[in-house]
Amino acid sequence: MASVKIQHISKAFGETVVLKDINETFQDGEFVTLLGPSGCGKSTILRMIAGFEKPTAGELYIDDRLVSGGKTFVPPEKRNIGMVFQSYAVWPHMNVFDNVAYPLTIKKVAKAEIRKSVERVLEVTHLTQYADRFPSQLSGGQQQRIALARALVAAPNLLLLDEPLSNLDAKLRESMRFEIKEIQKTMGITVVYVTHDQTEAMAMSDRIFLLNGGFVQQSGSPDEIYNRPVNQFVADFLGKVDFFKGEAGNGKIVFPGMGGQAVAYDGPHSGKVDVAIRPENIYFDPAGPLTGVLEKQYYLGDVDDCRVRAGDTLIRVIANGYLHKELWDGQTVHLAIRDMMVFEDDGTLDEMLKIRT
Ligand SMILES: Nc1ncnc2c1ncn2[C@@H]1O[C@H](COP(=O)(O)OP(=O)(O)OP(=O)(O)O)[C@@H](O)[C@H]1O
Ligand SMILES: [Mg+2]
Repeated sequence: MASVKIQHISKAFGETVVLKDINETFQDGEFVTLLGPSGCGKSTILRMIAGFEKPTAGELYIDDRLVSGGKTFVPPEKRNIGMVFQSYAVWPHMNVFDNVAYPLTIKKVAKAEIRKSVERVLEVTHLTQYADRFPSQLSGGQQQRIALARALVAAPNLLLLDEPLSNLDAKLRESMRFEIKEIQKTMGITVVYVTHDQTEAMAMSDRIFLLNGGFVQQSGSPDEIYNRPVNQFVADFLGKVDFFKGEAGNGKIVFPGMGGQAVAYDGPHSGKVDVAIRPENIYFDPAGPLTGVLEKQYYLGDVDDCRVRAGDTLIRVIANGYLHKELWDGQTVHLAIRDMMVFEDDGTLDEMLKIRT
C-alpha cells in the first residue's frame, strides 16, 4: 500500500497557473477520485504524482519518501507506480500475455517470475482465457483490461488511472467500475482515479476531491459532497440542482421570484440567500407550502420529470413514474421540500450563471 502527500504544490505552464498551493493527503488503501471540469488540472496532478511532470513549487511524498521537491526528483520508473492513461495503448502485434508481461520483460525479470506475475494479474482482470489472443480479437472492454493488467503486473502500491473507461460504452463502463473497485480491494492498493464523470466518482470513491479554479473546492465522501456541498459550485457540479434567490429571516425563506411564497427555515443564514434544491428533493404534497401550475411533464418510465411554474420561476420536480397517470398539465399543484441547501448570496452563483450563458 502507499500514501500520497501533496504539500504546497503549485503548477504553472508558462504564465498560466493551473494549480495553486494544493495540500492533500491520500491514505494507504484509499480509493480517491479527482473530479472537476475539463482543464481544471486533474491529469496534471496525476502526472506529477507519476513523475512525468515537475511541480513549480511544493513537495510530493509517496509513503513518506520525498519524490519531488527542492533538489529531489525521483524519475517515474523508480516510483513503483502503475498507470493507465485515457488512451490505453496496447501493442497490436503482441498477444495478451506478452502485452501484460511487457513492463517486466524490459526490466529483464526472470522468465519463470514473469509467468507467475502475469498469470496472477490475468486472473484478477478475468483475462486468463484470452492470454493467447491478439488485441484485435478482443472487445474494447477486454483491451482496456489488458492496459489495467499491464499497470498491475509489477505489483505497484499505487495505481493512477486517468479516465480509463472513457472509450467504453455505457454498459461496459458500469461493469468495469465494479471490476476496478474489486481489484483495488483484492490487491489492497491505493488508487488515484481521474474522471469528469460524477456518477463514476460517486460509485467508486472513498473520497472525492472536487477541483476548480486551481483549488480543491471540497473533499469528502460521496455522501458529504452530494448532500453537504460547501459552496454553490460543488452543489451545481454534482447531480441535478436548481438555484432560487431568497430572503431568509423570521423562521422562513421568502422567494420573490415565486411571487413572494415562503418556506419554513431555521438555519443560520439571514438576509439574501441562494437556495439549492435537488429536483428529487421536492415533491407533490397537497399540504406543501409552495403552490404552482404544472406546465410540462417528461415521462421517462421510472420517473416523471416535471416543470412547475410558480410566479416567474420554473421549478423542476422529479416525481415517481407512477404519478404520471395522476397528474395533468395545467393543474394547480402544491409542493413540499424534503431537503434544501442554503448558501449566503456572495455573488458566486451570479458569476457561475454568467459564465454559463
Ligand atoms: N504541457 C502543457 N503545456 C501547457 N499547458 C498545459 C500543459 N499540460 C496541461 N496544460 C494546461 O493545464 C490545464 C490543466 O490541464 P489538465 O490536463 O491537467 O486538465 P484536466 O483537468 O485533466 O482536463 P480534462 O478533463 O480535459 O482531461 C489546462 O488548461 C491545459 O491546457
Ligand atoms: Mg485530463
